[in-house]
Amino acid sequence: MLNFEQFIGSFSFDERLAVFDIEGSIAHVKMLVKCKILKTTEGSKIIKGLSGILKDLSNGWKLPKAEDVHYAVEKELIRRIGSLGGKMHTARSRNDQVAADLRLYLIQESKNVIGLLNDFQNIALKKAKENMSVIMPSFTHLQPAQPIYASHHLLAYSYMFQRDKERLQDSLKRIAVSPLGSAALAGTSFKIDRNYTAKLLGFSAPCQNSLDGVSDRDFVIEFVFCLSLIALHLTRFCEEIILWLNPEFSYIKIDDKFTSGSSIMPQKRNPDCAEIIRGKSGRIFGDLFALLTIVKSLPLAYNRDLQEDKPPVFDAVDNIKMSLEVFNALFASLKFNAQKTLNSCKKGFIEATEIADYLAKKGMPFRTAHGIVKEIVDYCIKNDKTLQDLTLQEYRLFYPSFDEDIYKFIDIAKIADMKISLGGASKKSVLKQIDDLEKSLRSKK
Ligand code: ARG
Repeated sequence: MLNFEQFIGSFSFDERLAVFDIEGSIAHVKMLVKCKILKTTEGSKIIKGLSGILKDLSNGWKLPKAEDVHYAVEKELIRRIGSLGGKMHTARSRNDQVAADLRLYLIQESKNVIGLLNDFQNIALKKAKENMSVIMPSFTHLQPAQPIYASHHLLAYSYMFQRDKERLQDSLKRIAVSPLGSAALAGTSFKIDRNYTAKLLGFSAPCQNSLDGVSDRDFVIEFVFCLSLIALHLTRFCEEIILWLNPEFSYIKIDDKFTSGSSIMPQKRNPDCAEIIRGKSGRIFGDLFALLTIVKSLPLAYNRDLQEDKPPVFDAVDNIKMSLEVFNALFASLKFNAQKTLNSCKKGFIEATEIADYLAKKGMPFRTAHGIVKEIVDYCIKNDKTLQDLTLQEYRLFYPSFDEDIYKFIDIAKIADMKISLGGASKKSVLKQIDDLEKSLRSKK
């Protein structure tokens, strides 16, 4: 059976905006009183009624159903205080109201997500400090590249999430603009004070064009793009965690509660949480595309299509928060197996670049050195030897001026420390990163 009311309405999902809707209404009514559009006594009664609804909501009471949350609040107010409640909607429309509600909601959720990113960074810093002696292979093309400190690797994610925080903070500038007073689309003939409502609600300023005020959803799209990039960053880390847990790697252990067994294969511990977080990126990217498509081609100003913006933005918020919460708990339980990561560095000729650098430091063009080391590696493969196994005589078969000091250059435990360039893999550089990130976290940036 066709349920027309359910189809046209949005209460089933916009009910979650109720608190913001009421706060917006209280500010609007205060402004109407200040501008003498409502009498002080009228304003007080309306605000008392609205505050009562707020209080009941905070105790778990639910608004009776209506077409949308705005009608639901107004109907309930009129039920509680009589027809005076109908004066609340003077000099406004649901069009500026819904835009304001959504902006207030996103201000709060931006802060919540920034908080979860801060938690991630604190865990990353703690892990980086605890694991300063763990050496592991780095990869390009997922093939062994050069030895690094595990901490250097973890801090790379901290910098990604730092950018995510900065992006959210920047987008907050565009979210925190008040559309209230744009009314349906043209503003109003009442002498309202838009600066006052903006200030009461913590917006930085009112928007300057009423058509833009009611039709703009860029801030929603931008916000969900920020969440998409966080989701993407999480997929990269989750992918690595899944690899590192594979017995071929065995680089790490995580708490058992983040994995599960197989119903048929008794030996399995599957990294389900990391996989689910990786999978959740799909729906968050989908939410971004839904929003782009909903707003695409809409003529000015408000169109009812815009009602469809809420399910995707709520979905993106819920799923990124859940993903970050689970990921942070999983990350906090992560332990490196330092012996395994070190042993892994002994495979894949990870010291090869050092030998080429050694020759280049003796004056040989790097390209020539690269060719010689390639021949040395081929020789090792043919003779089933590692670069550590080769004798000085064997090195000298490829180039006569190899000296005893070559072995210092290819000491796995020391290679990272030789990468002294700014931001490089040396202990000094890693400690500086820890210091910088700690300072920035303390300054709450
Ligand atoms: N429920 C609507 C929405 O979410 C509120 C605005 C309705 N405006 C209108 N002109 N019908 O967009």
